[in-house]
Amino acid sequence: MEKVRVGFVGVGGIANTHLNNISNHADAEIVAVCDISEDTATRQAEKYKTTAYTDFDQMLENEKIDALFICVPPFAHGDIEEKAAKKGVHLLVEKPIELDFQKAKTKGEIITQSGVINASGYCLRYLDTVQIGKNYLEDKQFAMVRGYYITSFVPTPWYRIKNKSGGQLVEQSTHILDLMGYLCGDIQQIQADMSLQVMSDIEGLDIPDVTSVNVRFKTGAVGHLDSSLIQHDHRMGLEILGRDFRLALDGTTLSIFEKDKMITYGSKVDFYEEQDNAFIKAIQTKNQDLILASYHDGLETLSKSLAANISNEKRSMVTMEEFYKNQG
Ligand SMILES: NC(=O)c1ccc[n+]([C@@H]2O[C@H](COP(=O)([O-])OP(=O)(O)OC[C@H]3O[C@@H](n4cnc5c(N)ncnc54)[C@H](O)[C@@H]3O)[C@@H](O)[C@H]2O)c1
Repeated sequence: MEKVRVGFVGVGGIANTHLNNISNHADAEIVAVCDISEDTATRQAEKYKTTAYTDFDQMLENEKIDALFICVPPFAHGDIEEKAAKKGVHLLVEKPIELDFQKAKTKGEIITQSGVINASGYCLRYLDTVQIGKNYLEDKQFAMVRGYYITSFVPTPWYRIKNKSGGQLVEQSTHILDLMGYLCGDIQQIQADMSLQVMSDIEGLDIPDVTSVNVRFKTGAVGHLDSSLIQHDHRMGLEILGRDFRLALDGTTLSIFEKDKMITYGSKVDFYEEQDNAFIKAIQTKNQDLILASYHDGLETLSKSLAANISNEKRSMVTMEEFYKNQG
């Protein structure tokens, strides 16, 4: 079988992980990298012995690319996805897939029409422990969900600017919001409260440093997600509670508590590697079902985090029905 020819657009932070995975993959090869920073593009091209571009259109025009990793910051997606999809290029788009719902929806429609394999970067879905939890919940009724994403400030220049990152919930804690949807089903309504409390001395920062989100699931179960960037360390996870059982994902470790027993599962996988391997395999076998987080799943999660931002601005609860109606 021929190797999958992979291109990259945006080769800063997270791209390093994917570049490393693809460079070590037996069935894939890196054929070009593109970054608007010439230094970054050149440095990565030298490291991975490939061709550097600073212009995405030129890369798409000149190179024969089967698959593209899109690792640009949230505000910088432009028309990368639609141009690539129209050329039949399979896509892995880092989360959050966009900042604008309508734009992302249109891109999603083009991706569907083009029939390319598509993935969004919700890598935690690929945790073996998340899959164990998902299977466990299959025949269970849960009543409450408690999520958290409590971490430190990210110094990259765009993260602190609301219209570039979307804020912490859209940009980072989205991983846990995504798992809440993946494990517990549709969220029906959202009420968010966000505030800038202790980080206002950081130059140019206009995003909240603490966020509290209440949700109601379609099933009637309730939940919340706490999100903050004011700590020195990183903690993320969620608890899902039903009558006499509790499932707790703490980082990548899952514990299942029942009345008389408790089992803990440590993860045995690298979830980024699992995600990237699934993407390459899906392309080779033309099987979108191998992808645990599609572009459309990314759109679902984006819409919940944008609805939370609206709820915070309006100081009132937002139903998803209302959100979709207002987005047109
Ligand atoms: N899945 C995960 O766990 C995970 C982890 C970290 C970051 N991310 C996501 O990946 C995305 C990128 O984050 P990062 O931390 O790598 O950011 P970064 O700023 O470190 O890197 C982004 C790179 O994109 C380049 N770039 C910007 N606009 C571009 C354009 N139009 N064309 C080509 N290159 C462009 C920049 O020059 C930079 O080198 C974000 O959406 C972020 O949320 C995901």
